[in-house]
Amino acid sequence: MSKKLKLVVSTGAGISAESGIKTFRDADGLWENYNVMEVASHDGYLRNPELIHKFYNDRRADLGKAEPNAAHRILKDLEKYYDVYVITQNVDDLHERAGSSNITHLHGELTKVRAVDDESKVFKIGYDVRTTPETVIEGHKVRPHIVFFQEAVPMIEPATELVAEADIFVIIGTSLAVYPAAGLLNYVRRGVPVYYIDPAPSRVPAGVTVIRKTATEGMAELQRILLAGIADKQ
Ligand code: APR
Repeated sequence: MSKKLKLVVSTGAGISAESGIKTFRDADGLWENYNVMEVASHDGYLRNPELIHKFYNDRRADLGKAEPNAAHRILKDLEKYYDVYVITQNVDDLHERAGSSNITHLHGELTKVRAVDDESKVFKIGYDVRTTPETVIEGHKVRPHIVFFQEAVPMIEPATELVAEADIFVIIGTSLAVYPAAGLLNYVRRGVPVYYIDPAPSRVPAGVTVIRKTATEGMAELQRILLAGIADKQ
């Protein structure tokens, strides 16, 4: 079997929409009902940590009731034919639960908290634990293991390296509104095919093949395109 091609996928909230998880900027999205600077920014955390803990406790509880959808599962299935690397802006664990092998979280993980005084100490707490600014784990006060606005994105470097090695790059369900994640596309080598699956893309970068469908329908179509491509080569 010849060496597998590297399929690098960048996912946003849209891939989890069909699992019942709200996106941010769609109608009735999270940022319609919450002030992002109050519940997802570093300044907001310093001003009102109690509100931030509650916001992430509620989202974590919702996640416990959600399941991966067909789009997450197709990404796992494609591992039979490609080296698949998922780079996600999502903080849900639906890629993990669908079984994807290589996942890079750019914006953190809902199911984890970390020590306030030592960010290398990360604790998995599952879905139902509700934390407060006073919660202590192993002697450390904790905070959500989330990258707030105004904070660095530590995983962006490894993510850009993955995109630079991609043989195929796929973007699924992101408005491409938030950097540095939205800039990953700039690291794709010339000539590498780029697909963008989104029912209502807010902007379409040049040279990108758009599949104007939901994540589940779009991934089914992309799977057909990719597997036909493999069949042609055999
Ligand atoms: N399938 C695929 N895409 C969908 C679906 C669906 N069923 N429903 C909506 N979308 C698309 C929307 O058209 C939009 O382009 O998903 C995208 C969601 O965009 P956003 O809500 O902006 O989410 P995202 O791009 O992931 O936000 C990036 O912003 O607030 C921060 O940290 C937060 O990680 C988040 C970042």
